[in-house]
Amino acid sequence: MFDRLCIIGVGLIGGSIARAARLQGLSKSIVGYGRPQDRQNLETAKRLGVIDDYYLQIGPAVLGADCVVIATPVASIESIFALLKPHWSERTIYTDVGSTKGSVVATAERVFGVVPDNFVPAHPIAGAEQSGVEAAVDDLFVHKRLIITPLSHTRTDALHQVQDFWERCGSVVSKMDVQRHDAILAATSHLPHILAFALVDMLGHQDEQSEIFNYAAGGFRDFTRIASSDPTMWRDICFANKNEIIPLLQQTREQLGKIQRLLEQDDSQQLFAIFAYANTARQRFLNQFEGNMTKSITFQVQPGGLLQGEARVPGDKSMSHRSIMLGSLAEGVTHVKGFLVAEDALATLQAFRDMGVEIEGPVDGCLTIHGVGKHGLKAPQNELYLGNSGTSMRLLSGLLAGQSFNSVLTGDKSLSGRPMKRVTEPLAAMGADIKASEKGTAPLYITGNAGQLQGIDYVMPMASAQVKSCLLLAGMYADGATSVTEPAPTRDHTERMLSGFSYPVKKQGSNVTITAEGQLTAADIDVPSDISSAAFFLVGASIAPGSDLLLKHVGINPTRTGVIDILRLMGANIEVLNEHIVGGEPVADLHVVYSPLTGIDIPEELVPLAIDEFPVLFVAAACAKGQTRLSGAEELRVKESDRIQVMADGLQILGVDAQPTEDGMVIQGGPIGGGVVTSHGDHRIAMAFSIAGLRATAPITVLDCANVNTSFPEFKDLVKRLGLALVCEES
Ligand code: S3P
Repeated sequence: MFDRLCIIGVGLIGGSIARAARLQGLSKSIVGYGRPQDRQNLETAKRLGVIDDYYLQIGPAVLGADCVVIATPVASIESIFALLKPHWSERTIYTDVGSTKGSVVATAERVFGVVPDNFVPAHPIAGAEQSGVEAAVDDLFVHKRLIITPLSHTRTDALHQVQDFWERCGSVVSKMDVQRHDAILAATSHLPHILAFALVDMLGHQDEQSEIFNYAAGGFRDFTRIASSDPTMWRDICFANKNEIIPLLQQTREQLGKIQRLLEQDDSQQLFAIFAYANTARQRFLNQFEGNMTKSITFQVQPGGLLQGEARVPGDKSMSHRSIMLGSLAEGVTHVKGFLVAEDALATLQAFRDMGVEIEGPVDGCLTIHGVGKHGLKAPQNELYLGNSGTSMRLLSGLLAGQSFNSVLTGDKSLSGRPMKRVTEPLAAMGADIKASEKGTAPLYITGNAGQLQGIDYVMPMASAQVKSCLLLAGMYADGATSVTEPAPTRDHTERMLSGFSYPVKKQGSNVTITAEGQLTAADIDVPSDISSAAFFLVGASIAPGSDLLLKHVGINPTRTGVIDILRLMGANIEVLNEHIVGGEPVADLHVVYSPLTGIDIPEELVPLAIDEFPVLFVAAACAKGQTRLSGAEELRVKESDRIQVMADGLQILGVDAQPTEDGMVIQGGPIGGGVVTSHGDHRIAMAFSIAGLRATAPITVLDCANVNTSFPEFKDLVKRLGLALVCEES
């Protein structure tokens, strides 16, 4: 990128920039500048090969440099600008690494009158407690955030070069305005440093300090780690950003006061609520952080193998969502066993915590939900973020339409592209006030309409359990009866669980009716294993010669067993053993043994009963003798991805003759080759292509697999234990 890169201040940060630039080959030469008293440090930098040369005068240091990075503490930037001013060049780009941007910009204004348009303020959010060039490393910025805070007149070429430079050093670059940067950093970095310094200062000055520190283990060490940072630098940062920090200190004082009062008043419930909220909010931040930082997860699958042994796959996703919803609205305490601890169900759990419900767990898949009653939810402080989960968004839209407060539902990129008119239109017909985008997608802005909803008699245009459930939940708050008719049977967990919670629902043929007359009484729920997760193993064992698997405690609700029926029609050998009822839902162990499959025309009436299993059923079809035809499955086009297109594309890459149609696919069974396929962020596609590896003739690489965590985080470990050679790579 550059012929000459000049680093002003070759300490931990400056030295690490030089090392990263050298590793990536970003500049032919790298030079450093420092004050005469920094000579020894600069000598060290040169000796370590961090820089090629150094200067104690700024003029020769920056002469001919394409890029100058100011990597000195914020308090010294003013003097650096003053030194640079007489040598400022139009053909050089300048940037800095100061952790407060308002002060840097103000300094530049003071020195130059107007901030030069070739100066790009930036801040890498990376560091270490140690300082000095000896501590510099070449990967300090890899997968770390870097914020650029351009001004309106910042030159775009300079901006792009700085962004490019940092991205090549491995940073994840974002742009924001100066004030926002300073507000965010005050909360996420400066305040925590102040609290750590303050706590150590307070405890250190107590008489019994030596005793306290002798016993200070885990928590104290973790919490105060950042108090080992450079005190001069942090003093300067705090002054530079004091306008943002002071109001936060005030808020902190109020929060501590609140906790003190709760302790004085023995209010354990409220204290628990604060801690539980903080606990899950932290997890959410970490997930979000990891989601942003983890560029991708790739499954590398070696061809061949077979599945053997016994396994219990995680809890049913649909039932897990509903257990939180109904448990929260019930009177009394609900205990849930077998809850699916995966991102989708956790999104629902978080939404109800955000609406004031106290939920303990999950611990080993167990939850305790302290129900607040049908009218006990509280307005959430923020939008409810539902990640990738269509079930959460569609069911909640119905439930929230009948509340007395407003709410906003948001989701990730995939969920924000999925059709919501299927719920907003019938809800509007009931009198709900929900605004979506023009295309009918999230975010959904719901105006609470307590007491205003009218019952409806709705004939669903598509077979959707989510739409049915959404309207039934709205019907619990509507005047008169709400009745939903489905064109084909869809999963009936909502109806069954409502009955389990003693709420009256009337089922007559393809029609379900509910009214607002009734209340939910807490009930214990035992969530069986998810047949949609078991499906990967049912297919895997059916296609891999020599396989013999026992899948324990799988939910076999007849509205979900289409996958067993379809596989059996193809010749699969699946036995249903030990059938029994648990909490109103049929459960069994499934024994599956390899058996050669034959292509079939999939009966259309089985489509809604196997709607989530088609990605892996397409793999079964690819391994079957002859042709398999699916039709009447246009719903697959609006799942987490367009599952018809994405599966056809991937199968073709693997050498399978798979022709997509408007509402299904035609697959000619034959050998499966290897290749690189992408799941398009769709969990079930990622898992389906992994299973294809069992019959592949060469390795399969499946890209974009992070979303397997939405439904089946244990997949990669379990499938390996049972016999597939899968390696999960993160980058
Ligand atoms: C679900 C219903 C189905 C299914 C989804 C879960 C539910 O969606 O695909 O994974 O829990 O109600 P549709 O209602 O859109 O068919």
